[in-house]
Order: sequence, then C-alpha cells, then structure tokens
Amino acid sequence: MEKYFVIGNPINHSLSPKLHNYWLKEKNINAVYEKIKLEENEIENFFSKIKNQDINGCNVTIPFKKTVIPFLDKLSLEAEQTQSVNTISFQNNNLIGHNTDIIGFEKAMTELNYKVQDKKIFILGAGGVVPSIIFALNKMEALKITVSNRTYKKAEDLKSQFDKINIVKWGETPDFDIIINATSLGLNNESIKLNTSIIGQGKLFYDVIYNPNKTNFLKLGEKLGNQIENGKSMFIYQAFEAFRLWHGVEPNVDEKILELLDHD
Ligand code: ATR
Repeated sequence: MEKYFVIGNPINHSLSPKLHNYWLKEKNINAVYEKIKLEENEIENFFSKIKNQDINGCNVTIPFKKTVIPFLDKLSLEAEQTQSVNTISFQNNNLIGHNTDIIGFEKAMTELNYKVQDKKIFILGAGGVVPSIIFALNKMEALKITVSNRTYKKAEDLKSQFDKINIVKWGETPDFDIIINATSLGLNNESIKLNTSIIGQGKLFYDVIYNPNKTNFLKLGEKLGNQIENGKSMFIYQAFEAFRLWHGVEPNVDEKILELLDHD
C-alpha cells in the first residue's frame, strides 16, 4: 500500500487527510494519507526515509514550506520562484518539490468567475502563503499589488522576490479592488483594523482562512456590501493538483466535497 503524508506543526487542524482519503477511496487507489507532526530537527530524518521509498509523497504545511527545500533534489519553477513547497513527489529516486498553492488560488478565482486582470490588489500579511498568492496574481496580470504586514520588514523582504509590489504600513488602507487576508488573524476571531470609510462597494474580500467559514474580516466585507469568499476552494484545488501529480488522475470536486469539509 502506498503511503502519503502531510507534515506540519501544528497539524491537528489539517483537513488534508480527510480530503485525500475520500478521493483515494473514490478512485479505488490502494493508498493511505495521514498527518504527521514534526519538529524542525526531525525533518532531515523524515526525508531520508522518503528516499528509501517508505513514503510515496507528502504535503507540507505551516511552518515548513521553506524549511524542506534543502532536503529536496529538484524544485518546479513555481516552487523555486516562490521558495515555497507544499507538495513533494518521488520520481526516479529524486524528491521533487512543487507548489500547488499557486494553481489552487488561480482556480479559486476562476471558479468565482472573477477577473483579476487589471485589478488593484491589497494583501494583508507576509507569511508562508503570500509569495504563492503574489505569483498567481502576477500570472493573472493584476495591475498593482500592495502588501501590508504587522512586521514591516517581512513585507519589505518580499521585494527581493517580487520587485514591483508596493508596501504600506500596517493600519493603512490603500485604494483596491480585491483585498486578501493572508494573516492568521481570524482563526481566533480577532478583527483587522481597516479604514472602512474609503473602501466603498463592488470589492472582493477574500480570506485565506476557511475555518471559521466567515471570519470577522469577511463579515466586515459583507456588511460594507461587498462580495466575500473564504479559502476553501483554494485549499481544495491545491489538494486536487497534488492528487493529480501523485496518482495521475483528477479527483472530483463537487458539492459532496464542500460538505465533507463543512462538517468539521
Ligand atoms: P509565518 O509568518 O511563520 O510564515 P504564517 O501563519 O504564514 O506564519 O503568517 C502569519 C501572518 O499573520 C503574518 O503575516 C503575521 O504577521 P507578522 O509577520 O507581523 O508576525 C500575521 N499575524 C499573525 N498574528 C497577527 C496579529 N495579531 N496582528 C497582525 N498580524 C498578525
């Protein structure tokens, strides 16, 4: 039986096993997908095990998307450019790092029927997933990307990868069409300070978080009369792409999948 894992810390909250195991069963694939909590100093050993073919592939989540890179043999172009790996495949004794968060975000936007081209984007946060979102937005030809992070330096550091982005201080609200919350604020239902008087309507409020379903950030967007969307379909589509990479078939994404993730 093939073995797949998601590694991270914390990992308890991860819905990846539920989703992948559902799809594995549906496609009659003889494999199992589990979660493993690792400490940073256990990562090297974990990867030597993968090399011995005990493990067929894995997903990587917070806080190891960058940490794993030195232990891999090859990176996809997207993983290289974002320095972020969320999926690892095993090919001819080589460990290949991929980034399926990018396509996950792109597909989420496409599914929403939202045209990103020529839009002004405001991103809150500069953590693990932000390079992937910026990469995807650039691919979709966004007009202008502004980033704001509580720790200013971390936002500024993104400029070495993406020289065209603008940075504003935490608490400032620039003009935008789409605002993306990529901070972990909201997991515990805290609020984000925004200058609501200049926001207006016809905007898209997007939260990378999908549990809770509607963060205070999304509630605010809704109250202001704007379109809102959480990160559930981005999560589903990054998993979809990982599944396709590993098993060579496309799993189904339908109402049942949305319900499966709701009941948690
Ligand atoms: P990491 O920063 O380790 O990659 P992450 O979960 O991917 O972790 O990112 C957390 C993001 O949420 C960061 O942008 C963080 O801001 P800092 O860089 O200043 O830490 C942001 N964040 C977390 N708690 C926050 C809070 N109470 N107020 C504002 N931003 C917060």
